Amino acid sequence: MKTVLITGCSSGFGLETAHHFLNQGWAVTATMRKPDHTLLPASDHLKIVELDITDPNGVSRVVQEAGSINALVNNAGVGWLNPFEGTSEDNVRRIFETNVFGTLAVTRAVLPQMRAEKAGVIVNVTSSVTLKPLPLASVYTASKTAVNAFTECLALELEPFGVRAHLVLPGQAPTTRFGQNAMALMAQAKDTPDDYAAFVAQVMGANRNTQGKKYTYAKDVTEAIWQAVIDPDSPMRIPAGKDSVALCA
Ligand SMILES: NC(=O)c1ccc[n+]([C@@H]2O[C@H](COP(=O)([O-])OP(=O)(O)OC[C@H]3O[C@@H](n4cnc5c(N)ncnc54)[C@H](OP(=O)(O)O)[C@@H]3O)[C@@H](O)[C@H]2O)c1
Repeated sequence: MKTVLITGCSSGFGLETAHHFLNQGWAVTATMRKPDHTLLPASDHLKIVELDITDPNGVSRVVQEAGSINALVNNAGVGWLNPFEGTSEDNVRRIFETNVFGTLAVTRAVLPQMRAEKAGVIVNVTSSVTLKPLPLASVYTASKTAVNAFTECLALELEPFGVRAHLVLPGQAPTTRFGQNAMALMAQAKDTPDDYAAFVAQVMGANRNTQGKKYTYAKDVTEAIWQAVIDPDSPMRIPAGKDSVALCA
């Protein structure tokens, strides 16, 4: 039986992807920060494991306990939509700790096993904001762009070992907890200079208004991740969702 380890399975894309792999007959290690609140069904093929990807000891332990895995999906991530001037250095680091260093840490932990087995697939979930700049998203976009560049180089250096690395770029998906989680995190934002107020209100309003817009569903992201994992000929970068696909056209 094939096995996958997925980070950030408490909600959104991670939750949907865990469901999908289980339905396809894979063994799934679904990691999350609060396993007591999982929405995943009990299954002999499912291990629900507590993991905050910013905890290096936790990452090593969880990957070791997962044993041999065929695929890693680095999905856990946090959003942030705020002017750069209203984003403290601590908060910049907080976003990068999860979106960049957490992703790199989990990747580093699985590589020795994949390299030894000369097989494996790593899928890093970034974002379509890396394709089209969005105001107030400078820090978030910088973090996801770092992962794009990292993954593209990594794919080349893993090629000789038969290990693949891919990017999945979801568009805007208002149905996950992403926006709510970002707002909760942004409660810690430092004071934004008043000069930005009108512009922030305008951007936030436009962002919230999904009427008539193409956007992304969790199933689009799951399908893109699934394609990356099962199809050795799948492209390095896979847009997910109509809005992201349109940006790549
Ligand atoms: N929704 C969008 O519009 C959108 C668009 C493009 C890309 N993305 C990316 O897609 C991925 C999934 O987002 P989503 O939309 O499914 O949002 P979501 O519902 O908020 O899910 C994010 C997941 O990441 C987890 N997480 C956050 N920080 C973590 C940490 N330090 N350690 C471990 N887990 C952590 C969250 O866990 P908790 O429940 O514990 O917070 C949650 O399970 C993210 O990488 C996000 O950047 C989202």
